[in-house]
Amino acid sequence: MVSAFQPALSHLECFDCGASCDVSVPRSVCLACGRPLVVRYDLARIRASLPRETLGRFGTDLWRYRALLPFASSFAPVRLGEGGTPLLPLARLALALDVAELWMKEESPNPTQSFKARGLALAVNGAKAWGLTGIALPSAGNAGSAAAAYAAAAGIACRVTIPDDTPEAFALELEAFGAEVRRVPGTIADCGRELGAWAPSPRWWNVATFKEPFRLEGKKTLGYEIAEQLGWRLPDAIFYPTGGGTGLVGMAKAFREMQELGWVGERLPRLVAVQVTGCAPIVRAFERGASRAEPWADAVTLASGLRVPSPFADTLILDAIRSTHGTAVAVSEEDMLDAMVELSASEGCLVCPEGAATLAALRQLRTSGEIAADTRVVLYDTGSGLKYPEVWRAALARRQSAQVDA
Ligand SMILES: Cc1ncc(COP(=O)(O)O)c(C=O)c1O
Ligand SMILES: [Zn+2]
Repeated sequence: MVSAFQPALSHLECFDCGASCDVSVPRSVCLACGRPLVVRYDLARIRASLPRETLGRFGTDLWRYRALLPFASSFAPVRLGEGGTPLLPLARLALALDVAELWMKEESPNPTQSFKARGLALAVNGAKAWGLTGIALPSAGNAGSAAAAYAAAAGIACRVTIPDDTPEAFALELEAFGAEVRRVPGTIADCGRELGAWAPSPRWWNVATFKEPFRLEGKKTLGYEIAEQLGWRLPDAIFYPTGGGTGLVGMAKAFREMQELGWVGERLPRLVAVQVTGCAPIVRAFERGASRAEPWADAVTLASGLRVPSPFADTLILDAIRSTHGTAVAVSEEDMLDAMVELSASEGCLVCPEGAATLAALRQLRTSGEIAADTRVVLYDTGSGLKYPEVWRAALARRQSAQVDA
């Protein structure tokens, strides 16, 4: 039988214990130690056949980087137009914050309006490549919507558990895409526990963050896009709103692959993990010099995507930060809400709260001097603000009361 996977995919490798396995059968996590698996390629082989100048031939969505993704050229992926999002210059805020360059990777044009489409496109296509008929995941909202959309398009069944206070827009999307949904009291951690009993393997392939190897491959295209959009001159610092951390780890992987491909130089961008003071397990572990993150008790934040009390890939996230001389920073709810209004009023971006947190974090690090004035910075808007009308109301009410006080 012709493999659905491409010949330069060499193996899957456990990030923690280094054990390896192949893609001949469906995989989840490392069989030896239970930690995340990462896709490895024969990059020398790809390097020989893919000069970066030829990427233009391959369209504008993330499949432009297809030679660096798991599937064979004969495999027809389910596609909804994922990736290929703009990198917007934030000229007014660059002046206000006094940084050399300021860019916003605007992820809301993705299918289901968030960056989660990148990872879930790859996971659902992975399920298709392995001939699986059901996927399942716990979600704070955006990942569930994306999974449900791709599953619908692939004709694959989908079960999703969401916290019972998930914004209504996400529940509406899940229903529209025909996913089976369970609302669970608590956080995404509680949803994960519930999912185990309700959607057991092998009938349901678990596509939760880092519980399978392909979402990371979709998210790594963020790193390829930023490099290409900046003319292969990587920025100095990238601020990423970190919940489960797939995008942060994915970018670190992309930059290393690009170095091996000879596409970028030695210096990597500092990766800055942005969290909120109500749920900051990675910031706490980073500050303590720990390699694992303790679960965060009583996680509370309006940024539902950042309410991840115990990120499964803590070791990978902390490694991505430390190996790029990055840092981790927590912002307050108030600063995040104010940054939402700042981005809409001065740059025309109706950001999601998670995206606004990256601007609040940059301001914090400019004030402390940890980010210098000559820095070229990329912020992230990971999804559409329109899915969070209640949070926007709270942000605008703060502006209103500030104006009344003035
Ligand atoms: C809008 C938004 N931003 C950021 C995140 C966190 O992303 P990650 O899990 O890749 O760290 C999420 C996760 O749900 C999200 O929905
Ligand atoms: Zn292992």
